[in-house]
Amino acid sequence: MSDSATPVTPAAFPPAFLWGSATSAYQIEGAVREDGRTPSIWDTFSHTPGKTAGGETGDIAVDHYHRYRDDVAMMADLGLGAYRFSISWPRVQPTGRGPAVQRGLDFYRKLVDELLEHGIKPAVTLYHWDLPQELEDAGGWPERDTAHRFAEYAQIVGEALGDRVEQWITLNEPWCSAFLGYASGVHAPGRTDPAASLRAAHHLNLAHGLGTKALRSAMPARNSIALSLNTSVVRPLSPNDPADLAAARRIDDLSGGIFHGPILHGAYPKTLLEATSSLTDWSFVQDGDLELIHQPLDALGLNYYTPTLVSAADPDAKGPRADGHGASEHSPWPATDDVAFHQSPGEQTEMGWSVDPTGLYDLIMRYTREAPGLPLYVTENGAAYDDKPGADGAVHDPERVAYLHGHLSAVRRAITDGADVRGYYLWSLMDNFEWAYGYEKRFGAVYVDYATQQRTPKSSALWYGRAARSGALPE
Ligand code: NOJ
Repeated sequence: MSDSATPVTPAAFPPAFLWGSATSAYQIEGAVREDGRTPSIWDTFSHTPGKTAGGETGDIAVDHYHRYRDDVAMMADLGLGAYRFSISWPRVQPTGRGPAVQRGLDFYRKLVDELLEHGIKPAVTLYHWDLPQELEDAGGWPERDTAHRFAEYAQIVGEALGDRVEQWITLNEPWCSAFLGYASGVHAPGRTDPAASLRAAHHLNLAHGLGTKALRSAMPARNSIALSLNTSVVRPLSPNDPADLAAARRIDDLSGGIFHGPILHGAYPKTLLEATSSLTDWSFVQDGDLELIHQPLDALGLNYYTPTLVSAADPDAKGPRADGHGASEHSPWPATDDVAFHQSPGEQTEMGWSVDPTGLYDLIMRYTREAPGLPLYVTENGAAYDDKPGADGAVHDPERVAYLHGHLSAVRRAITDGADVRGYYLWSLMDNFEWAYGYEKRFGAVYVDYATQQRTPKSSALWYGRAARSGALPE
């Protein structure tokens, strides 16, 4: 953490700026059958042949459930001041309803205490995609009741941890839950029903609203409640072409407005309702829903990796890739046959995502205008590279250092230009289960040898730790 002795340089950040890293339960914990935990949709999906690269699952992941003490000590050694992790819903409330499993809550209480003892500020995400399978069997997010079940779960966790965790995030990237889960089907539960994905989006919004109310009633008022959005930074291929601008607007509505419209402003964008009218009349939005969703927030989390480049569709262009970026049979973008997706220019990471820190700057400034006065956090940012230990056993990842330097510089520039960014969580603390890509894509600042579970900080982790300790970007 920085202090008054920190020299003020153009690279210096505000003294209270949080330098954190992030993970999620299914991606790191393993121990999927321990202490009363039941399957989530990701257990079912990853165990279904053909759904993940190499048939990989989160059964063991990086065994964090058993190694959390060492992992916390590692964060402290690196000098990190904050840690964002998620709670596994089926570990706490196995059927998605009814009373909590004490052993599940105990795990998170012990994790939080360990963090606090090491001076690391915990930030809890309640939902990072691992819906209890029983709730999916009852209809999943397209069903309204799932939102009520989420509120009950939020209440349970808020009561258990609200005395020691100040930072709360209801949902992580509801776009992925709704559209990768129910439209393209590349994520659990793997359904390909565009109309259902729009219902899912609304019920995720409702879950956020009901969950926020439940958290407020369950814990001290000083705590901060937010959610993490991955609004696309949409760029039109030809910025002066009205058809390309309209395509960009369509994607912006479907990635941003569909969530921040009701959450921040109490309404869905009219353009969104019109554009999706062939799929739904939105009659699942009941009286009073928009007020419930439009709860006061204490902060907003932004997740950013790469911009999205679009144009009006031309007959030769391919449709969007199933993950939303570039061709496949099922698109995560409902009602967008008239939009074409393009590879953004420039250098690419292992995911094929272009490196463009200006997108992060633009996203922060956009929400500075969209939500004046609301503190912002970058709750995820990072890159996958093909990291391997060298002959000396060390893992050198200069590309990730450059990625982090570029993106943190963009955050710094946004702060200089008036944005109220309070912290940054690097995705990810360590290599882990990258959903449908399995273990092949390494996002970690810390390398994990999956055969031995040995952790080795990459040079990026050491670089980031220096930044965290000094409150400024090392050259
Ligand atoms: C966003 C998700 O929240 C996280 O779970 C995922 O691993 C990263 N993006 C990288 O794709």
